[in-house]
Amino acid sequence: MFRKILITGVNGQVGHALKHALATDTTLNVISLDRSQLNLTDAEAIRRVVHAHKPDLIINPAAYTAVDKAESEPELAYAINAAAPRVLAEEAANIGASLIHFSTDYVYSGNKVDPYIETDATHPISVYGQSKLAGEMAVSAVGLPHLILRTSWVYGAYGNNFLKTILRLASEREELRIVADQMGAPTSSQSIAQAVMAILPQWQENTHGVYHLVNSGFTSWYGFALAIVDEYKRVQIERGWPVLKTLPSNIKAITTQEFPTLAVRPANSILDCTKLATDFALQLPNWRAALIEEMKALRLS
Ligand SMILES: NC(=O)c1ccc[n+]([C@@H]2O[C@H](COP(=O)([O-])OP(=O)(O)OC[C@H]3O[C@@H](n4cnc5c(N)ncnc54)[C@H](OP(=O)(O)O)[C@@H]3O)[C@@H](O)[C@H]2O)c1
Repeated sequence: MFRKILITGVNGQVGHALKHALATDTTLNVISLDRSQLNLTDAEAIRRVVHAHKPDLIINPAAYTAVDKAESEPELAYAINAAAPRVLAEEAANIGASLIHFSTDYVYSGNKVDPYIETDATHPISVYGQSKLAGEMAVSAVGLPHLILRTSWVYGAYGNNFLKTILRLASEREELRIVADQMGAPTSSQSIAQAVMAILPQWQENTHGVYHLVNSGFTSWYGFALAIVDEYKRVQIERGWPVLKTLPSNIKAITTQEFPTLAVRPANSILDCTKLATDFALQLPNWRAALIEEMKALRLS
């Protein structure tokens, strides 16, 4: 059972949700560090901080997550997503601690027809995906007790994400054009944090390695945008929120080709979570139910 947990990147979506979820367990001593307290580009700082605190578990949600920008900043993406997890894993191993590290659906090419399972071949098609895969490999090479949780399409009431972008654009424009040929599971930061809370008490060292961890079901970015606008409209009057300019009928489905981006995204990002269900008796809520929960937590400024 873990008693002292160190978390990185607590101002990120998952880090923030984890910090708050872990705080509900008063038996835990949680050391929550943001970028100013632990910069992952500084290997010496990682070693110093881990040794100073001597946690029995490190959780690493911090990452370089700017998928398009990573194409022109590969060194920085690799420093944060690959070199830093290696140092975290080495230092955790040195003090006998375990590590939970987060990864992504973007380690896959997206060419598979069916949902991906953990043993499928990885083949990242972006610098971001390549740097995250390098991080996974670095962590597993150290050989300490670890979980690598691959998640997808993370969003929430806190942080910058697709939910916030769609609501901003829908308040400014009459029509939205959203990609409908990339499929995946929108996954709320709250769902991820709650899943980690459920995993911790039952985690044995013999259950380690890569796990898919996403909300159930799947949709496209277009389907997700429609759901966001629908759910907003459902609660808009009781929450006193302003009317959106975009009507659901004015959200248009487009192809990836019609919306070129610097980084290529997988067409199929659907992750099968059977391994998580088998080893931890855990199934995350349906993505639409999770969206309703995030809407409840959403505060419009
Ligand atoms: N976002 C997604 O859609 C998505 C999808 C699949 C997988 N994932 C993975 O899920 C995990 C959590 O992602 P997220 O959505 O919570 O990301 P996020 O909201 O972008 O947060 C990332 C955090 O990492 C911190 N960070 C960046 N560079 C750092 C550095 N040099 N030193 C220390 N901290 C640094 C950021 O600090 P600042 O707050 O100071 O910027 C931020 O708080 C990551 O491993 C990510 O790769 C995310």
